[in-house]
Amino acid sequence: MASVEMVQLNPMGDERGSLIALETSKNVPFDIKRVYYIFDTHTDVSRGFHAHRNLSQFIVCISGSCRFVTHDGATRREHQLNSAENGLILSGLVWREMHDFSPGCVVMVLADQIYDQEDYIWDFEQFLYEARQRRAAGEC
Ligand code: TYD
Repeated sequence: MASVEMVQLNPMGDERGSLIALETSKNVPFDIKRVYYIFDTHTDVSRGFHAHRNLSQFIVCISGSCRFVTHDGATRREHQLNSAENGLILSGLVWREMHDFSPGCVVMVLADQIYDQEDYIWDFEQFLYEARQRRAAGEC
């Protein structure tokens, strides 16, 4: 089942500032096996351009902003990631692209699998083919 969901996170703010905690089963719907962050991205480049066959991710733009594009095989969506209080949760077969990075943008990604090159689909037509196959099989 491919799914793309934007969620609101609750900051624990006080007079000193804000803090957001991400925890498995509380606000992250999978066991976290890997965390990585994307930073120092040049403002004129785009990243991503792939899908994963078996990966869930929880994506937070913790500083700055970028434009995040998803495609689930049927629907293309654009998400403005510009707040540390929003999380984008991707699961199933979802194509992703990142564009328009602001200077100083930091994108943090939590994942439910360790890094596996074999899990990537880099070709959009191959992605559409596999997504249609899954749909035909009633998997998404
Ligand atoms: P890449 O997947 O190209 O990044 P993006 O999707 O943002 O364009 O990853 C960049 C490099 O980092 C590539 O050599 C693979 C490596 N990498 C890891 O070693 N571990 C990871 O968890 C990730 C996401 C990437």
